[in-house]
Amino acid sequence: MNHLISIAGDAHPVPAQDGETILDALLRNGVGFAYSCQAGNCGACKCEYLAGEIVELEYSEQALSPAERARSVVLACRTQVRGDVHIRRLDTEEFVMHPSRVLQCRVGTLDALTHDVLRLRLTIESGGPFAFSPGQFAKLQFAFADAPRDYSMANAPHETGLEFHVRVLPGGVSERIREHLDVGDRVRVSGPFGVSYLRQKHRGPILAVAGSTGLAPIRSLVHAALRAGMPGPIHLYFGVREERDVYGEAELRQWMQAHPDLLRVHVVLSERAGEAGTRRTGLVTEAVAADLPDLTGFHAYLAGPPAMVDTAGELLRSRGMAARDIHADAFYRAVPAQPVPHVAV
Ligand code: FES
Repeated sequence: MNHLISIAGDAHPVPAQDGETILDALLRNGVGFAYSCQAGNCGACKCEYLAGEIVELEYSEQALSPAERARSVVLACRTQVRGDVHIRRLDTEEFVMHPSRVLQCRVGTLDALTHDVLRLRLTIESGGPFAFSPGQFAKLQFAFADAPRDYSMANAPHETGLEFHVRVLPGGVSERIREHLDVGDRVRVSGPFGVSYLRQKHRGPILAVAGSTGLAPIRSLVHAALRAGMPGPIHLYFGVREERDVYGEAELRQWMQAHPDLLRVHVVLSERAGEAGTRRTGLVTEAVAADLPDLTGFHAYLAGPPAMVDTAGELLRSRGMAARDIHADAFYRAVPAQPVPHVAV
């Protein structure tokens, strides 16, 4: 039985045999398509699945992350055709790859941003240069921890050194960071990781939603977007519980003054109004819903507690945003991390 593979933007569908992989069918028919290992290991053959009946074969998690999988990205070499199928080539920005590095760093400063948020600044001693895209994260290995922990870079790539925001939770590694980490201590950093990075070719509006220390990657990508002269506008929502949880606001306000037509910053308290009663209150997702009824042409970046990220994602999809335009990394999502076999009829 033969099926047809349609590629968005390509005039002629490509015939495929039942059970053939998308990549095999395209190559057999002389259609150019990026690939390398042909075995689900490298990720070079990623494309967006739009419609049709497919079965996905096993692949390496390094080739396709759960976050990409949640955005309907599939591996053409590991996706069998079981009916007529519609796919889209990924924009080249979807393939941003930086060399994977292991850096030896030392603590430059460690200071309190709020009662339970620390700002950790590291200087890179060896293993660099460390290239990353704003919004990505790294794994930090501390001498007193048995396993590395994921933290997003809060600095933009052009800023010297590395900055991370650490929320201190009782009994965790973060508490030991506060109690035992000193200026000059060694920290090993590996990365970068993550697919929720700034797409700089985007010419439309940007929605950036941060909850708590989710402000770290949002700070990085908003700073980079302003520096790159992206046309925006950029709507930044920062949701925290109460006034004492707000941090980084002075800098955001400076950016807003420097770019009054470009950047709008909204701080939203979920539990208590500010002392003068001047803050917006409620869930940050409610503020987004009230302010932005039309999200046509937006790109969104979400970072914060998994419940907030999931609620925001649902809201944006219900307002018509395509999944490919909503970016959130796996450790900010509550959804299970394993890929689920995708059979669509
Ligand atoms: S070609 Fe390497 S994962 Fe498909």
